Formats: sequence, structure tokens, C-alpha cells
Amino acid sequence: MEVLLTAERIHARVTELADEIARDLDGRPVTVVGILTGCLMFTADVIRRIDLPLRVAFITASSYRGETTVPGLLEIRDELLPDIAGRHILLLDDILDTGKTLTRVVAHLIDRGAVSVKVGVLLRKTGRQEVPFEPDYVGFTIPDKFVVGYGLDFNDEYRHLPFIGVLSAGE
Ligand code: XMP
Repeated sequence: MEVLLTAERIHARVTELADEIARDLDGRPVTVVGILTGCLMFTADVIRRIDLPLRVAFITASSYRGETTVPGLLEIRDELLPDIAGRHILLLDDILDTGKTLTRVVAHLIDRGAVSVKVGVLLRKTGRQEVPFEPDYVGFTIPDKFVVGYGLDFNDEYRHLPFIGVLSAGE
């Protein structure tokens, strides 16, 4: 597999991002919300650098594949989300692709009473965005290739890889 981002590069950049996030929070307590499952490693690495009062929560957002529903409809599940009314949120996701997921999830969190929602993505693919959405923090901008590792999967495999690689046909 072609390695796009080594574990060392990821570590260095995530450390930088987390420090920037911590500075911007300026002492304000925050609820970090990760979008499962791709956010796994990114979230774990970011929160360990933030020395502030902090809560961690997770939600899922998946394209619904039910036969009777409209294709492409996003199903957000937030049973594990604590009360976020009046809280500042840092929403973390693995990758910004079309932008549909993050647009919907931000609206959902505001709907649940969040005071503010800042968004951090580890990766942003070039030339793929379909809806206007500007994340507050971006780790790396990458070419339009399917990537796995450091939380990202193909068929739920490869998430455990410490690097990010480009999956090619046959792998
Ligand atoms: P949208 O299009 O809503 O979707 O921005 C973002 C979600 O799409 C998935 N995604 C990928 N997952 N490798 C992956 O493992 C990729 O290259 C990739 N591109 C998009 C991912 O779940 C992300 O949260």
C-alpha cells in the first residue's frame, strides 16, 4: 500500500492542531464530539493534548441504506450524546469529502442546544466538496483518492494502521 502520510507526520500535525485548538478555547470548558468510527484515533490524540475541563462524546452518522428511504439520506444516531445544551462543542471527523455529513451534524448539534460548534477534520479531499462548508481546523489536504488507516476504513478493515495509505485495487 502506498503510504500517503506517515505516523510521524500525522503525530506532528495533530499535535500542532490540538495546541491551536487549546489556545483558541482560551480556558473555556468544551465537549469534544467525535463522529464514529473514523474519528477514533484523531479524537484520542487531540484530547490528550488539551489540558482544559473537557467532556468526550460520540455520535454516528451513516448514509442510510434502507430500501424504503431516499438514497443518500444521512442517519444520525446520538444515544450516547450527553446533554450539550449551553456547551461549546468541538466536533471531530476523519475526513471532509462532499461536506454533507458535517453540515448535517453541525445543524443537529445546534438543534440540541450547543452554544457554539467548531469543527476539526484530519483530512480534506480536494475537488470533492458538494456543499459549502468551512471547517475551523484541517490537518491535511489530500488528493481525491480513497484512503485508509489511522481510523479510516474499507469494509471496517485497516482502521488500526498507524499511517494513512492509499488503497489500490486488489488490496
Ligand atoms: P461527506 O461526503 O459527507 O462524507 O463529507 C465524509 C465521510 O465519508 C467517508 N469517506 C471516506 N472514508 N476513506 C474512508 O475510509 C476515504 O477516502 C473516504 N472519503 C470519504 C468517511 O466516513 C467520512 O466521514
